[in-house]
Amino acid sequence: MNDATFLKDFPIFSHQVGEKRLVYLDNAATNQHPACVLEAMDTYYRRWNANPHRGVYRLSSESTKLYEGARQAVADFIHSKSSDCIVFTRNTTESLNLLSWTYARMVLQKGDEIVIPVSEHHSNMVPWQQACKATGASLVFLYPDSDGIYSEEEIEKKISSRTKIVSFALVGNVLGLGLPAEKLIKKAHSVGAIVIADCAQSIGHTPLDVSDLDVDFAAFSGHKMFGPMGIGVLYGKWELLEAMPPFLTGGDMIEYVQEQESSFAPIPQRFEAGTPDVAAAVGLQAAIEYIKKIGYKTLREVEAEVTTYALERLSKFPWIKMYGKPLTGERKFPIITFTVEGIHPHDVASILDEDGISIRAGHHCAQPLMHFLQVPATCRVSFSIYNTKADIDALVVGLLHARRVFGYEH
Ligand SMILES: Cc1ncc(COP(=O)(O)O)c(C=O)c1O
Repeated sequence: MNDATFLKDFPIFSHQVGEKRLVYLDNAATNQHPACVLEAMDTYYRRWNANPHRGVYRLSSESTKLYEGARQAVADFIHSKSSDCIVFTRNTTESLNLLSWTYARMVLQKGDEIVIPVSEHHSNMVPWQQACKATGASLVFLYPDSDGIYSEEEIEKKISSRTKIVSFALVGNVLGLGLPAEKLIKKAHSVGAIVIADCAQSIGHTPLDVSDLDVDFAAFSGHKMFGPMGIGVLYGKWELLEAMPPFLTGGDMIEYVQEQESSFAPIPQRFEAGTPDVAAAVGLQAAIEYIKKIGYKTLREVEAEVTTYALERLSKFPWIKMYGKPLTGERKFPIITFTVEGIHPHDVASILDEDGISIRAGHHCAQPLMHFLQVPATCRVSFSIYNTKADIDALVVGLLHARRVFGYEH
């Protein structure tokens, strides 16, 4: 195996960006798709497309089988005890909103608290601000040290008997650091709070075992694990989902409808109003099979090699400032956030784009973290299984190019 072994699985890399080779370094935003995922979705539409759960004809029951098969594949993949605990949504954001509009509004009262780290993506922050406004509860923040590490003292201090919900990303999308999940979960449960794990950034890199971790809810998106956009997952413990009212209402989620009243379907259908994206569910199942075939161990090894190489090369330049503790190994995921002295991150990203290199620049949907770090915007590069050391070399050449454009010698 060399570091380009997996590149050939991804058709997008056979295309150029203008005259240039595509160097895609924005995997924390979304992954590219292996051919097997594209083919699974294509086959669905060519052979099996019909509305699931509704028709008695064969095509509809095949579509239902594929959709429910994908649900079972997700349940097995994350070690959920039952596929009834897997709700398909559009993405992580919708999964978290579902909880904000149902669970949170159902349990929260004035005086209660929701605790989240300040490094959270807006998707795991704004829904809780809204739930607090609606219920009179308060949003309490955990703050890290200047390297982005959350201490045990901070967790002990902020999670208290007032805490009803603790929601955090297993891996942060800006600094690429794993959060102290076990400590947060243990402390939250010791005060009777429920735990929501935002697995958007972790699911593409490391296994999720919801039973072993003992989280109450977990949310992730298909497109950050080689699957299609438009499909997300909400896992919930059976008894919690079962007690929750519906989120969106209409077709497919009802049991019986009268003129003035309706009763609702059992979980998970109760939370899946309207025609679902069956092709995306099928694509997600193919992505799961792809990850299983490679194995998370290999995935992590390939990504760690590229990340370590990138950290080494970027740290040679005094005009690059990297954010977050540059840990490698278990706690460091393949995300590097940095600024280039004298050049705005948007200019860096635009100049790199001329060289065929896609990186992210801005606040990364984490404005409170940027405020905490006292930096308005940064550059972010993030890697996946198809990135190579040649990509990092191209990045370095591109950064030197950007420096020259802005009048620096190097
Ligand atoms: C940690 C984290 N949570 C939530 C999200 C939102 O994901 P989506 O846009 O797929 O809903 C992201 C997206 O980057 C993320 O990184």
